Amino acid sequence: MRNNKQVRVRIPATTANCGPGFDTLGIACTLYNEVALELTGPAGQVEIGVSGEGAETLPTNSRNLVLRAVRTVLDKVGETQTGIRLSLVNAIPLSRGLGSSSAAIVGGLTAANAIVGNRFNQAEILDMATEMEGHPDNVAPALYGGFTISVMTGGQVTCLRLPLPQQLKLVVCIPEFRLSTHKARQAIPTMVPHKDAVYNVSRAALLVGALTSGNLDCLGEALNDKLHQPYRSSLIPGMPEIFAAGRAAGAMGVAISGAGPSLMAYTAERPQAVGEAMVAAFAAKQIVSRYLCLDVDYEGAKVVESA
Ligand code: HSE
Repeated sequence: MRNNKQVRVRIPATTANCGPGFDTLGIACTLYNEVALELTGPAGQVEIGVSGEGAETLPTNSRNLVLRAVRTVLDKVGETQTGIRLSLVNAIPLSRGLGSSSAAIVGGLTAANAIVGNRFNQAEILDMATEMEGHPDNVAPALYGGFTISVMTGGQVTCLRLPLPQQLKLVVCIPEFRLSTHKARQAIPTMVPHKDAVYNVSRAALLVGALTSGNLDCLGEALNDKLHQPYRSSLIPGMPEIFAAGRAAGAMGVAISGAGPSLMAYTAERPQAVGEAMVAAFAAKQIVSRYLCLDVDYEGAKVVESA
């Protein structure tokens, strides 16, 4: 039963891993893509318009990720005899570690679910999104907003959403070059020493405790990682220097955002100074970058218009 013919959904960018929480932790940020979906025209007809980030490069055929997510929902409810019109307005840069593919997936699933009368609950949408993305740490905060802890059991996600201290600011430094998640995942070994696993378990626990109790002084230690960042360092020239520059300018800690190459500083003060210091440190390695000062998004994917 279709409730609406058109919907527009806003989806936040996300920063995953948050240092030691590989494939587990994620935070939604105040940077957004929009997906407008209309079911119209004869079956099989598809129109996709893209503006903003990826306007020149994103596919506008059956490979488009938003379209694939829309079709996942429509197929499940048997709504296959319809044309699909999509208009995508993207502010989240592609292949920079800010969850652009998760935003596409969650946007498509949420828009299609709204159009079919919310036949699926949020947990079901999260499971579908995770199956499409391969891991839950970006799709969970993109869907729910806030700070999320996601655990996989078989194909199902158990997700906790927690509030963060109000004074926490996120400063992301985005280099001009792209890094595919596939390539960044290939850099990680399949086996790690037990002591490195212990190193990460302790810091992930400390990070969740620090963020939820407001003991932000622990963040410098808590954001450290041995499961992925050391292996990805060679893919992000100057990474240790940029971490150091962000901290020297006032950040409590810095981590790779998702699979990179963007680097995320966690700070309670002087966000601009932190961003400028990180951009200067990238520039010292002949890499052009820019920074954004972001807050935590608590709304997640949201229908902003329906008709
Ligand atoms: N946890 C993922 C990774 C996030 O680090 O590969 C990127 O999608």
